[in-house]
Amino acid sequence: MNILGIETSCDETAAAIVADGKVILSSVVSSQVAVHHPYGGVVPELASRKHMEAIVPVVHEALSAAGLDQKQIDAIAVTRGPGLIGSLLVGFSFAKTYAFALEIPWVGINHLEAHIHSVFLEPDPPPFPHVALLVSGGHTGIYHVTSHTCIEMLGQTRDDAAGEAFDKVAKILGLGYPGGSVIDRLAAEGDPAKIEFPRTYLDKSEYDFSFSGLKTAVNRYVTRHRNDCSEQLADIAAGFQEAVVEVLTFKVIQAAVRLGCSHIALVGGVAANSRLREKLRLDAAGQGVAVHIPSVHLCGDNAAMVAATGYYYLKDGTGADSGDVDVFSRAR
Ligand code: KG4
Ligand code: ZN
Repeated sequence: MNILGIETSCDETAAAIVADGKVILSSVVSSQVAVHHPYGGVVPELASRKHMEAIVPVVHEALSAAGLDQKQIDAIAVTRGPGLIGSLLVGFSFAKTYAFALEIPWVGINHLEAHIHSVFLEPDPPPFPHVALLVSGGHTGIYHVTSHTCIEMLGQTRDDAAGEAFDKVAKILGLGYPGGSVIDRLAAEGDPAKIEFPRTYLDKSEYDFSFSGLKTAVNRYVTRHRNDCSEQLADIAAGFQEAVVEVLTFKVIQAAVRLGCSHIALVGGVAANSRLREKLRLDAAGQGVAVHIPSVHLCGDNAAMVAATGYYYLKDGTGADSGDVDVFSRAR
């Protein structure tokens, strides 16, 4: 089954074609980073307009890169939410209209479930049940994944998402937007033990997170060291990153051990972080837990993960949506 995936929840216009939920025939991502960069964050109104310009060319490119005619598409999977409503509506309206014109089924997909499915596009996916740590710009949570369509949330952030913390700290340090990958690179040159930032575990036995205090601590440190801050940038980045990585790693491994799961999946934009990938693998191995992480191009927003999720809802013919289904902005 060839599924066309469409993703427009935030600032990436993406289309992909995936065969049988596994084989990526094409995956096109048109990023709006350059548009939002001057504003230090995503401007919703601009994002919607850019999706409008990009959606048709991006879908055409996905079809031609896969070497397929549109008649060879069997179904469409499109992100319904959570995300920016104006952005979601562009991909969603396009997908519904296109499916109607091609007379094929379509299904609306939860963006968080799509991230969790990114790991199934890799050759060595985790078996069920497993524990997933989803870390992105909009969400941070730990999930118990018992099947493709049965996913239970164990805990989530009470304030900033991990990626949001990276972006805000990058802004405080004057590193621009988006900040995750810049901090990742800078931290590699710093000493993570030089500046000790707070680790917020909340209740250590539970799975909720909080990153806003850490962001405030970095802000306070920078204000206090205004005069020599530029010489300490790499150490600040490394100290901040280590504080985030330690808490994430501790909580997800604890969840896996307690639930008797010997496999963890690390997904979402922040899963591209090199220190998080390294430490989670290392610490989990110490507990006999295997870690599955998608390639970097599948960590950030893309449409292949949307198409892969759609496959599991559509394959028995019962998961298709009808015309009255709508988009949604907040996580469900
Ligand atoms: O999953 P994603 O592409 O979009 C959302 O669904 O939010 O995640 C984007 C987030 C941004 O906050 C970005 O700064 C962060 O992922 N990110 C990283 C890295 N690459 C991207 N954070 C830390 N280290 C990275 N290497
Ligand atoms: Zn995302």
